[in-house]
Amino acid sequence: MQDNPFILIPFKSKEYFCDREQQTDEIIRNISNGRNTTLISPRRLGKTGLIFRVFEEIQERNLPYETIYTDISDTLKMEDFIKVASEAVVAKLKKHQRITAFVKSLKSVRPQLGLDPMTGSLQVSFTFADENQKQSTLKDVLAYLESYPRKIVLAIDEFQQIREYEGANMEAVLRKHIQHMQNVCFIYCGSKKHTMTDMFTNAKRPFYESTSFCYLEKLPVAVYASFIKEKFENAGKTIDDASINYILEWTRTHTYYTQRLCNEVFSFSESRVDMDVVLKAIRAILDSERERFREIRRLVTRAQWKMLTAIAAEGSATQITSSAFLSKHGISSGPTALRNIKALIDKELVLADTNEDGTSYSVYNVFLSRYLETERP
Ligand SMILES: Nc1ncnc2c1ncn2[C@@H]1O[C@H](COP(=O)(O)OP(=O)(O)O)[C@@H](O)[C@H]1O
Ligand SMILES: [Mg+2]
Repeated sequence: MQDNPFILIPFKSKEYFCDREQQTDEIIRNISNGRNTTLISPRRLGKTGLIFRVFEEIQERNLPYETIYTDISDTLKMEDFIKVASEAVVAKLKKHQRITAFVKSLKSVRPQLGLDPMTGSLQVSFTFADENQKQSTLKDVLAYLESYPRKIVLAIDEFQQIREYEGANMEAVLRKHIQHMQNVCFIYCGSKKHTMTDMFTNAKRPFYESTSFCYLEKLPVAVYASFIKEKFENAGKTIDDASINYILEWTRTHTYYTQRLCNEVFSFSESRVDMDVVLKAIRAILDSERERFREIRRLVTRAQWKMLTAIAAEGSATQITSSAFLSKHGISSGPTALRNIKALIDKELVLADTNEDGTSYSVYNVFLSRYLETERP
């Protein structure tokens, strides 16, 4: 049995991780110089993986930092934030036998500690009596980190989620507490470029000018191509350049989709990989996703689905209100196109990328895009 070298989890070890050397160095340089980092890219391009790559590098270089990772994508309010942050802290402190010290430092509310029966990880629960207790517990958690005997790197993944919180303005509350922190270096990570950029560059916003930006792009095609070749060769398999190029083209070098296809190709391959194997893998993936795509179709209106299909047909669409685009795809008017594209962007089915040349739109999920292109449902 051979391990599949194309991982589908964010990070395993640098052996399975393609490149990102420059970004890893950049983030470590930020940390060493007391700067926070704001890491932004579309979903599934490799932000979370990069955070763990940075953490691994910190350990390999023996840099004097404790690293803590917390993902707040499932949090809806400040209490949830306090809970997941505390659980991340506790998971780290376990090996240093400092949990008691942490619990004691939370003065307003004593948390309950328990074990998650499924994962065996420590769970932390709070029962807050009022808003004040929440605010002061958040403050206590951060104060504990500030007083920790080692410097801390705290990565907060899907940070834009704090904008969705009900109640107190979490952005302002957090900023108030962390602006004077010196023992903790933050990595804020997010996939909504517009929201993230707004939070960190708008002078009226509380995080203004507090961090250094890292916009993560797609991996360079040539670098990814040699990574793929090497992984097959190390497993005693050969793959021709045409197949590699096709894989990268078909998946648009969007990391998750490229990894997923490579993983599938690898699973079908014996000693030699050629286009037949690649096409077989593509069919297998589209077959396995079909039901999910039908589900998406049920969740959008007919007009939105039509728009999505039009975007897929273009690959990357720019002039979506031009008469050429409208008539080619049978869309009734510019305002209709704009209304539908907005709904699709809100549902994260379409990715809008704005630069100096204007905005281009693509179907966010590359497999869905290819499905719409080939099946023409
Ligand atoms: N540098 C990389 N090398 C290999 N695979 C990667 C790399 N970066 C990301 N991946 C793959 O892409 C997937 C999505 O990456 P992830 O870090 O979860 O993206 P994001 O956090 O931006 O949504 C991962 O599960 C992994 O399979
Ligand atoms: Mg992520």
